[in-house]
Amino acid sequence: MAPMKYTILLCWLSSVAFGNEGNNSADADDIQTLCQEMKILKQTMEQKFLFQEEEITHLKQKLNLSETKIIDENSPEREKSRQGRLLLHPPVNSSTAENVPKIAFSANTVTDHVNLGVHHTLVFGNAISNVGNCYHHSTGNFIPNVSGVYVFDVQIVLCSPGHELRTELVLEGKVMAAHYTGDSTHCSNGGGMAIFHVNAGDSVWVRVRSSDGGNGIAWESSFSGFLLYPDS
Ligand SMILES: *[C@@H]1O[C@H](CO)[C@@H](O)[C@H](O)[C@H]1NC(C)=O
Ligand SMILES: *[C@@H]1O[C@H](CO)[C@@H](O)[C@H](O)[C@H]1NC(C)=O
Ligand SMILES: *[C@@H]1O[C@H](CO)[C@@H](O)[C@H](O)[C@H]1NC(C)=O
Ligand SMILES: *[C@@H]1O[C@H](CO)[C@@H](O)[C@H](O)[C@H]1NC(C)=O
Repeated sequence: MAPMKYTILLCWLSSVAFGNEGNNSADADDIQTLCQEMKILKQTMEQKFLFQEEEITHLKQKLNLSETKIIDENSPEREKSRQGRLLLHPPVNSSTAENVPKIAFSANTVTDHVNLGVHHTLVFGNAISNVGNCYHHSTGNFIPNVSGVYVFDVQIVLCSPGHELRTELVLEGKVMAAHYTGDSTHCSNGGGMAIFHVNAGDSVWVRVRSSDGGNGIAWESSFSGFLLYPDS
């Protein structure tokens, strides 16, 4: 808008400077023509702005958005439109959520933790949590009563310098994941996450895959799991 202001000032100055007697000056003619063009341009732009404002008002009415509703970020209309755009999940219906089975456990402190032979079950004797009571801390077995996809995590901390231990997560004796820990001068940590389907009544546990003896499994070692999706 600044150049427009200068042009208007120029037009006014030229009319003062040249006045009536300046009618013969070619420069004055040019300036006057320019001023006329600027005036027309200004009017056109003002009309365009007016038209755009009307257009916006019209669109707002079409979308049922009043001025105040546009500012209100938390209005239900705003939320609905946002969800439509971002494809968010609708709010969780708590009465439905209550019917979703809850199974989750986490345990540490392996009871037998030195000189373990191949296929020896690691019994994580201390259950930190056991929602749904599917983890059996005396045997080390997780036996869910709901079929579905489960997430498991195994962490093995070994404090036997120079030794190594390989472990595996098994489902009914079938190896689903394997982990390596060892080869350090003090303690080392190995493990990982695994996601797989478990049928109700089937058993999941951690056992020794291979060991070279003297495996001091530290209490921090853990076995955890939870139900991700029940079968529908
Ligand atoms: C300026 O010149 C135009 C023609 O060139 C003439 O029609 C007009 O009357 C003149 N105005 C004055 C104030 O002399
Ligand atoms: C706007 O509101 C009117 C009446 O309240 C309704 O008929 C129309 O479908 C609404 N339009 C939109 C885009 O929601
Ligand atoms: C939540 O789910 C229950 C049972 O399916 C249903 O009766 C209720 O209307 C739902 N509530 C909402 C807010 O969707
Ligand atoms: C699974 O066991 C829990 C805890 O004992 C119980 O509340 C739930 O009803 C059982 N679910 C099924 C499907 O048997």
